Amino acid sequence: MHELTDRVALVTGGATKIGRGVIDVLRDAGATVVVADIDDAGLAALPSEVDSQRSDITDDDAVAALIAGIGERHGGLDIVVNLAATYLDEGAETSRADWLAGLNVNVVSAARVSAEARPLLARSGHGSIVNFTSISSGIAQTGRWVYPVSKAALLQLTRLQALDYAPDGIRVNSVSPGWTWSNVIEGVSEGNLDHADRVASDFHIRGRLGRPEEVGQVVAFLASDAASFVTAADYAVDGGYSALGPERQSPAIPLLAP
Ligand SMILES: NC(=O)c1ccc[n+]([C@@H]2O[C@H](COP(=O)([O-])OP(=O)(O)OC[C@H]3O[C@@H](n4cnc5c(N)ncnc54)[C@H](O)[C@@H]3O)[C@@H](O)[C@H]2O)c1
Repeated sequence: MHELTDRVALVTGGATKIGRGVIDVLRDAGATVVVADIDDAGLAALPSEVDSQRSDITDDDAVAALIAGIGERHGGLDIVVNLAATYLDEGAETSRADWLAGLNVNVVSAARVSAEARPLLARSGHGSIVNFTSISSGIAQTGRWVYPVSKAALLQLTRLQALDYAPDGIRVNSVSPGWTWSNVIEGVSEGNLDHADRVASDFHIRGRLGRPEEVGQVVAFLASDAASFVTAADYAVDGGYSALGPERQSPAIPLLAP
């Protein structure tokens, strides 16, 4: 359990399964949580104690109003979790408009939300930003260009923010989840978690998908004072995915036998 009593946390894109895992762990640790999302149904489904805000993070005026409102309602802001993302991606065929739209949500908005929040985070004395990257930041995935590029950019943004926000006492880190039980995986697997776990088992040393709260635990650690000497770091929350080579869990050499 990480200690976040009296801390205020903003989670962008929190109206989703992974968001909920993050929210639940932050709240269990004592934090007050604000969620900014454009998914009205997802926002409505959050616990009433969560400060749910319909806010489009690609809109500068909306972001400014969001941060100002947090200051007014909660008296400050200690933690920003840049979780919102789009999977908009047609690989090599992606149009310029879709490239810009994808990078706008995944990269530019993380930078702008953080910049807008900086004065409140600086006042906090415990300011912390956690960016969501992905295993997709470091491997080639056929048919996907925008999303992996955006996640790779977030790794570098994390280092740059950590350096330039350090004078304000703000730490900046990222998490890189592996396959995690989420709306997208629920959709593709038609809601069959057991099946999704079986497919994931060959790709993850832990032998299954990650769970939203397992990602949330690492976010809460990075946001807490327990991580006071951790900044500019990326934490794999991927069950060992990134340590496996293309041979996955099974030995490949025997395949050479004719
Ligand atoms: N699903 C996985 O297995 C997985 C793996 C690695 C990393 N991740 C990362 O975890 C995070 C959550 O992933 P997910 O699969 O739950 O995604 P998701 O698409 O289910 O959720 C993203 C959320 O962001 C919100 N959002 C999108 N555009 C927005 C905007 N302009 N303003 C405000 N909110 C906006 C959406 O409404 C949605 O609620 C993402 O950053 C993703 O890259 C996911």
